[in-house]
Amino acid sequence: MITSVLVTAGPTRERIDPVRFVSNHSTGTFGYAIAEEALRRGLRTTLISGPVSLKPPRGARFIRVESGLDMRAAVKREFRKHACLIMAAAVSDWRVRKPAMSKLKKGRTAPVLRLVPNPDIVKEVCRVKKDRIVVGFALETGDLVRNAGTKLKEKNLDLIVANKLGKRCDVFGNGIKEITLIDREGGRSFYRGKTKTALAKIILDKILGHKI
Ligand code: CTP
Repeated sequence: MITSVLVTAGPTRERIDPVRFVSNHSTGTFGYAIAEEALRRGLRTTLISGPVSLKPPRGARFIRVESGLDMRAAVKREFRKHACLIMAAAVSDWRVRKPAMSKLKKGRTAPVLRLVPNPDIVKEVCRVKKDRIVVGFALETGDLVRNAGTKLKEKNLDLIVANKLGKRCDVFGNGIKEITLIDREGGRSFYRGKTKTALAKIILDKILGHKI
């Protein structure tokens, strides 16, 4: 039986210098909605969040992180203490190789940022997941089902929440969503016109009912 859940949410910030960073448009709303719903169902809930402007859900253990490496350290520490991981965070795929210790000054030439890959956190923890349930997210601009299906397999996930980014779909923030859930047996369900709160319920029903 699943009695505890670890949720990640929000973007990560990869430092360029003490005042600038590389990041993405994630607002954290999906992960926070999932954490709220898990709490409503009485699950012991830990939320690891990148920098967002949302209030931490009441009753959750809350861990705030900044960079992809911080998030990785927190997930690795918490993973084994929970029966389920829902990895909704939009971890930056790259970080700046050598962040400057002091503010970069405007010179005559623009600085060149050397990026290096961040570790794939969910893939790493899934190597030691044993009987834990791990849910990943996929954000795609094209070929949604195929790309998300590949991520599900390559990362050894139990379920993936596939989001399409397009003109009609407001992936970031609070609007109405369109998602496809794909499980490891290849089962697919499609939802449109739902809020993130409604989708959080659907995702948790699926996990808690072990219908994955
Ligand atoms: N993820 C992760 N660590 C990373 C990057 C992504 O754990 N360094 C997780 C995300 O939290 C999400 C899943 O992997 O649950 C898929 O993230 P996504 O950004 O859609 O895909 P990527 O694996 O980063 O591949 P790409 O950006 O090439 O589509």
